[in-house]
Amino acid sequence: MAKRPEPHPILLTARLRLRQFRGEDTDAMHECFADPKAMRFWNAPVHTKRIETERAVLRYVDCTPSYYRHWAVADIETDRCLGLVSYHDGHIRNKRVAIGYFINPSCQRRGMATEAVSAMLDFCFDELGLHRVQAFIDPDNTPSRKLVEKLGFGREGLLRDHLRVGDIWRDEIVYALLGANRPS
Ligand SMILES: CC(C)(COP(=O)(O)OP(=O)(O)OC[C@H]1O[C@@H](n2cnc3c(N)ncnc32)[C@H](O)[C@@H]1OP(=O)(O)O)[C@@H](O)C(=O)NCCC(=O)NCCS
Repeated sequence: MAKRPEPHPILLTARLRLRQFRGEDTDAMHECFADPKAMRFWNAPVHTKRIETERAVLRYVDCTPSYYRHWAVADIETDRCLGLVSYHDGHIRNKRVAIGYFINPSCQRRGMATEAVSAMLDFCFDELGLHRVQAFIDPDNTPSRKLVEKLGFGREGLLRDHLRVGDIWRDEIVYALLGANRPS
């Protein structure tokens, strides 16, 4: 008999519900991906057509948990999608992943990413039993750097021309957090 897929884990915080993406989240995510300022440091070019976001959201619905998983970051009261958190480049057997996150510009600077990423880190270390979580961040992405530094990540070095977006090569700083060193 075919194995039934595991249900997508729901993670709760004081203000947020991290849940599986749905097709209805496309418009909310398109607000993020069509915003050139918010997309400056993302790993894909600005979305100029809604269909690009529709396809992205479809990829987020279907995950391969041993390699990557996306959660919609939703308001706990209204269930409106405010952004995403994800792990990817997963080497679950080697107990290592990289993470990504995006909060709608209209909701930034209210601690949403801190809350959502903390919940995902709890899942990564406590449920998946990971040893190391990495983040690759453009040196000019101050909000993202402040976020991971606040969560206890250490800076390990600069990777030159590590990411190609369109025709542009970008440097990235590698940050990492080891489960054993996680602040309580
Ligand atoms: C990075 C991002 C997710 C942060 O989301 P957020 O909900 O605004 O983050 P928080 O409110 O939890 O703040 C986290 C820290 O970043 C700081 N911060 C947030 N926005 C900032 C800004 N524009 N300038 C300077 N610091 C900023 C906050 O002050 C906070 O640090 P502090 O508590 O020490 O003051 C958001 O800016 C974003 O979605 N950016 C676009 C996508 C992106 O670049 N993702 C990361 C790719 S590596």
